[in-house]
Amino acid sequence: MADSRKPMVAGNWKMNGSLALLKSFSQSFVSDNNAEVVLCVPSPYLAAASRSDFALGAQDCSQFVAGAHTGDVSVDMLKEMGVEYVIVGHSERRQDHGESNLVVAEKVKTILQAGLIPILCCGEPLEVRENGDVNAFVADQLAAVKTVCTSDFLDTCVIAYEPIWAIGTGKTASPEQAQEVHGFIRKMICEWNPKAQNTRLLYGGSVNASNADDLFAKPDIDGGLIGGASLKIDDFAAIIAAAK
Ligand code: 13P
Repeated sequence: MADSRKPMVAGNWKMNGSLALLKSFSQSFVSDNNAEVVLCVPSPYLAAASRSDFALGAQDCSQFVAGAHTGDVSVDMLKEMGVEYVIVGHSERRQDHGESNLVVAEKVKTILQAGLIPILCCGEPLEVRENGDVNAFVADQLAAVKTVCTSDFLDTCVIAYEPIWAIGTGKTASPEQAQEVHGFIRKMICEWNPKAQNTRLLYGGSVNASNADDLFAKPDIDGGLIGGASLKIDDFAAIIAAAK
């Protein structure tokens, strides 16, 4: 891993957790200087989660700055709550809410314009992997963002590679499979923007306390985006410790 890429572990609680769990996290959480830790809690918990040991993340935002968009949350509102990072283009948003590559790209633009940091998710479904089209699929997802934002987005953005077949299934990509895609992404984004040598690439998909070490040891894996294991304090702490 390049020196300028500080390891990062981001927890994505999705639509899980409770105020009680958040409270116990806040009481027992020990910060780790080796890694930057981000906790992406559901929006109603942002106010309660705001604290100094970890950076606060949101799980989505509107592509619009303000207006008549019932149920949506704006980047300025997130900023007011102390949010620094916003997950965008998670496969569950793409699936549940039909978010296209273009909508995701517009969200990245809105997040950057607000001075926040997108954690841009990409990753293929199983059939794409079985057809051997992973690189082309991921390239399309990321290229859409370059079209809307120019390649400058890579100066700030964090990218998370999350193969859909590995999310919540207990079926992790092997460190070699993950590195293969991370290496491809690194090469492609460095061609777009040489500064992308410093862009952090996270792996997500059934990362746990036992497999984090091997995944994070790979040269283009700069940390993880953690779902289920981020709801268990001890497991999350072990994953953070693995990110050096
Ligand atoms: P799991 O770690 O539960 O597989 O979820 C990964 C994920 O989707 C994180 O955004």
